[in-house]
Amino acid sequence: MSREKTQAELEAQFQAKIDAEEKIEPKDWMPEKYRLNVLRQMSQHAHSEVIGMQPEGNWITRAPTLHRKCVLLAKVQDEGGHGLYLYSAAETLGTSREEMNEALHSGRAKYASIFNYPAITWADMGAIGWLVDGAAIVNQVSLQRTSYGPYSRGMVRICKEESFHQRQGYHIMMVLMRGSDAQKQMAQDALNRFWWPSMMMFGPHDAESAHSAQSMKWKIKRQSNDELRQKFVDQSVAQAEEIGLVIPDPDLKWNEERGHYDFGEIDWEEFNQVISGNGPCNRQRLAHHVKAEEEGEWVRDAMAAYETKKRQRSAKAAA
Ligand code: 3HC
Repeated sequence: MSREKTQAELEAQFQAKIDAEEKIEPKDWMPEKYRLNVLRQMSQHAHSEVIGMQPEGNWITRAPTLHRKCVLLAKVQDEGGHGLYLYSAAETLGTSREEMNEALHSGRAKYASIFNYPAITWADMGAIGWLVDGAAIVNQVSLQRTSYGPYSRGMVRICKEESFHQRQGYHIMMVLMRGSDAQKQMAQDALNRFWWPSMMMFGPHDAESAHSAQSMKWKIKRQSNDELRQKFVDQSVAQAEEIGLVIPDPDLKWNEERGHYDFGEIDWEEFNQVISGNGPCNRQRLAHHVKAEEEGEWVRDAMAAYETKKRQRSAKAAA
């Protein structure tokens, strides 16, 4: 009779799977810290997708044309779907959506800092699509190779939809930059307000990142915060120049030796304030999420009652 494997042997076997690029599936043995780390990141990713619907949702009724309204409506619906994929994938780690939402409402769980900034003009819809979805794509393309199977497969599906999100945002900025001086100024103003908060989406510098070292060892994260941020900067500068926008960073400069752009320092005090709940819209975003959860309770109860009825009927038919 083979003896029980020790914790150390189980962990060594787990790491060997990770190193061999094997996906970890819900029923596989995994260190509790791995489960908690992936659950933390996935649930916060899902919260970000759902809360991210608010700033853009506010503009659906104010879109300048029917075409722009339809495009924005489709994008916001996509984000809700991304949240559903990610909550379902996170639930495979043994936590319910109710528990994830409770962690969000209590402030124990975070969501992307970027969504705590107001969207005050139509050009913000362009800046969000172009920069926020652009940053999300850089991050999510890398996450397609994450070690947790359900997360990796969810990312593949989400990435297919994200490029449309970025494209429609960039198109809004391009059209504004071909418009009147007032429209050009509106686009530049949106870039000025969203550039640095978009840079914060990649998290703290690697040296200050609480999770990166372990997340990289377990291949939850495949590229570091700074590596992905650099990729975002390099691609965005070229896109901004193409349509005549100016990135609001006086330290931005091409570094031939590095083959990348050098750029200025992020305001980490602002970052820490926003992720601690003190950003411009944190309270509003969370209050809206709580209200929507409360107002949707009757739908969830009706669905649960229907499911119970269906189970009772099939049990009766089987008896
Ligand atoms: N906003 C809020 N919190 C952030 C943050 C940000 N931009 N960047 C980092 N943090 C938090 C982390 O969650 C962590 O706090 P926690 O321990 O309470 O979870 C702390 O700051 C330290 O940061 P780390 O770098 O150590 O944390 P991670 O290793 O988790 O890296 C991350 C942060 C890069 C955001 C990583 O979690 C990640 O890649 N998450 C998945 C992608 C994601 O969540 N994207 C959010 C945007 S979704 C979106 O934009 C939708 C699009 O369709 C519009």
